[in-house]
Amino acid sequence: MKVGIIGSGGREHAISQTLKKSNKIDKIYCFPGNAGTKDIAENINIDLNSFEILKNFILEKKIDLIIVGPEKPLVEGLVDYLEKFKIKVFGPSKIAAQLEGSKIFTKQICDKYNIPTANFGIFENKKDAKKFLKSTNYPTVVKADNLASGKGVYICNNENDAIIAIDEIFNGKFGEANKLLIEEFLKGEEMSFFTVHDGKTFKTFDTAQDHKRVLEGDKGKNTGGMGAYSPSRLINKDLKNKIIDKIIRPTLKGLEELGTKYKGFLYTGLMIVNNEPYLIEYNVRMGDPECQTILPKLKSDITDIFLACCEDQLDKINIEWTGKKSLCIVVCSKGYPEEFKKNVEIENLSKIKLDKDEFLFHAGTSYRENKVYAVGGRVLNFVSLSEDLKSARNEIINNVDKLNWNGGFYRKDIGYKVIN
Ligand code: AMP
Ligand code: GLY
Repeated sequence: MKVGIIGSGGREHAISQTLKKSNKIDKIYCFPGNAGTKDIAENINIDLNSFEILKNFILEKKIDLIIVGPEKPLVEGLVDYLEKFKIKVFGPSKIAAQLEGSKIFTKQICDKYNIPTANFGIFENKKDAKKFLKSTNYPTVVKADNLASGKGVYICNNENDAIIAIDEIFNGKFGEANKLLIEEFLKGEEMSFFTVHDGKTFKTFDTAQDHKRVLEGDKGKNTGGMGAYSPSRLINKDLKNKIIDKIIRPTLKGLEELGTKYKGFLYTGLMIVNNEPYLIEYNVRMGDPECQTILPKLKSDITDIFLACCEDQLDKINIEWTGKKSLCIVVCSKGYPEEFKKNVEIENLSKIKLDKDEFLFHAGTSYRENKVYAVGGRVLNFVSLSEDLKSARNEIINNVDKLNWNGGFYRKDIGYKVIN
């Protein structure tokens, strides 16, 4: 069969490579893909803002299945649009994607179904939001309601910081805003919990912990993710049951009452406080770099999982994993998450020889005239599977050293909480 993947990051390269292992797949298209996917798929550079152009291409090439990687087209309703043309798509509907597209939508479901989450208030103007700041404790968290590529969350240590956050959000830094959230700061450890859904049932899809801060020791600015490891050190049976019963099931019930179902990957971002889960956020897709970290552990054929989800047959399949641990280090362009140079050549890629349990996924890369260039902030993802995370990390650092790319940097301490 022919399959198409929407997106251009490390997550999409990992999905393509995992699909490539399946003997059911004859051809992969990536929209638009990157320098890594071009070796296993055909990269198609069309304007993703036009759903119609994409739909016409899919119908013309008779692509059997579409997988949507990133949140933006999901929140904009790509799945609903393609399904109108009887195209099989893996991903949630526009309404269900509001779980990521609107933080207030999710908080309202939490409120209605008693889902454990930080206490919060919704404010519709600067004056009311600032008035509330007088009576709150610090740190406090101010959040833009809409998609903000991970940048719309402010952890504020004092009233002054919070006033700046409120002004920036209402002044339109993340698009038009007529509401924002102020919520209680939760102190604990974060964990990413993944499930996969067909609308009727769901199955767990492993756990991970990522490192969002740019500097070693989890310091500095927030990024899209500097590395991750799987499984999370926090997961246990009791916690897993609590996450499912107190958070995921009530959320699905909430969606059902709104007349929709959930299909696709669901990423539950949690704060774990004394073995109790609190919902921080939902993402309606796999995490990046969690996806690159988790997929190499999958033993089952991923095509069967995607198809089962599109055909309401998830209860008929088993998802199997290797028992190994996985770690991923992201190599970034120097300067990220702030200004960085684009179109910097990555010279030594051919020096990297990967063994069976090692993987290199491209993210912000582009291919021109036999050369690979860095074009994004997060550039390459090195992943290694091992019986223990320390060996996995050592293998990766070995490979990154061979690359010896002076346009980039990376964190050597990914997984330090479990390794040391
Ligand atoms: P979000 O985009 O909602 O995931 O927030 C980005 C990051 O901000 C999270 O990964 C957390 O590290 C942090 N964060 C968000 N909400 C809270 C909260 N209520 N308490 C503590 N940290 C938070
Ligand atoms: N790794 C965080 C995210 O994918 O949102």
